[in-house]
Amino acid sequence: MVEEIKLCSNKIKISQNIVVLTGAGISAESGIPTFRGENGLWKNYRAEDLATPSAFMRNPQLVWEWYCWRRRIIKKAGPNAGHIALKEMEEILRERFFLITQNVDGLHRKAGNENVIEFHGNIWVTVCSQCGKTRWDETENYSEVPRCEACGGFERPGVVWFGEPIPERVLQASFEKARNCDVFMVIGTSGIVQPAASLASIAKSAGAFIVEINIERTPLSPLVDLNLKGRAGEILPAIVENLKE
Ligand code: OAD
Repeated sequence: MVEEIKLCSNKIKISQNIVVLTGAGISAESGIPTFRGENGLWKNYRAEDLATPSAFMRNPQLVWEWYCWRRRIIKKAGPNAGHIALKEMEEILRERFFLITQNVDGLHRKAGNENVIEFHGNIWVTVCSQCGKTRWDETENYSEVPRCEACGGFERPGVVWFGEPIPERVLQASFEKARNCDVFMVIGTSGIVQPAASLASIAKSAGAFIVEINIERTPLSPLVDLNLKGRAGEILPAIVENLKE
């Protein structure tokens, strides 16, 4: 493993542009449950049962209950060694470094990363399902579904749900980054939710060296050039230590 970590660091050192894609796995060590695998269910619901426009239409109260539960966990959580290592990587590599996260927990920004795209949005944003007005919202408990101040419509979490498109600006910027990098790291994601998962294939087709950090194999594993099996909070600090040499 030491040799593989060294190889990864060396690739990063000589790269012109590195893009990192993170998923729920990087926040697992902060105590935030992932969506799939152990503890992935909330009251027996899967993310696919709750994070959809039809689930919200059917039962907005239940969907808000789930998001408020997640907000409370996230509020208590802080960046872990993996987040901090990525912040250091950005400090070292500056504009050569770019981060795309599927996570809505905001922990990368909290760690201090600035070059970040929040691909699926941010859990602390609330948006009117009728007029689209957004607001920053730190409420951790709603006894009733909140209503828009402007138009009275039902408000919903301002994140991207299954079946909804990624905002065009976010999608184009992410594709562009993936096409133009020479190292692409995919960290703590099951690699099954599209279009985020396709970013790795786009980078691969464009000739980038692909690195995966995950505690298990994923559908993306066969296409990667280097598999680093283990926890992001242990492997990333080791990679960054080498960059400092
Ligand atoms: P998943 O829950 O699908 O996958 C988490 C991944 O992290 C798994 O592959 C784990 O093996 C891995 N993992 C867990 N702990 C780890 C650790 N300490 N170090 C490294 N890897 C670890 O989460 P995502 O792939 O992020 O979307 O899920 C993608 C999207 O599905 C989410 O953004 C969310 C969800 O529904 C929406 O809400 C639209």
